[in-house]
Amino acid sequence: MTDDLYHMARAVRENAHAPYSKFKVGAAIRSRNGIHVGCNVENAALPDGICAEGGAITSMVAAGDKEILEVLVYAESDSLVAPCGGCRQKLSEFAGPDVKVTMAGPDGITATMKMDELLPAAFLFKPA
Ligand code: THU
Repeated sequence: MTDDLYHMARAVRENAHAPYSKFKVGAAIRSRNGIHVGCNVENAALPDGICAEGGAITSMVAAGDKEILEVLVYAESDSLVAPCGGCRQKLSEFAGPDVKVTMAGPDGITATMKMDELLPAAFLFKPA
């Protein structure tokens, strides 16, 4: 099941715009209506860059879905590439505590964690 996410995240990573960090990342999110991908898009104004996960979330919401079923992040690094803190918060908006987040590289899967392991005690705003 995760295979399709792996191949799509690995492929979209090629399109990343990462001239500053030179670190390309791809992300794939499964929702009920399909798979949504994103890559990191950096900017000369460095804080304005977008992470791969953020791009994939935007793509999912634009396609009309708001529930994440599964996430895979692909990068090529000697160490584990887990979503940054901001992306954990962004994912938690649409992913419940049991949603699996898989981290992968060229040799396959390196780790799988649940959302509530990645972001325990997530901030959730419940409007009145
Ligand atoms: N990056 C992601 O896109 N996702 C992650 O999970 C970790 C970091 C990007 C942001 C920036 O473009 C580059 O990787 C280096 O931090």
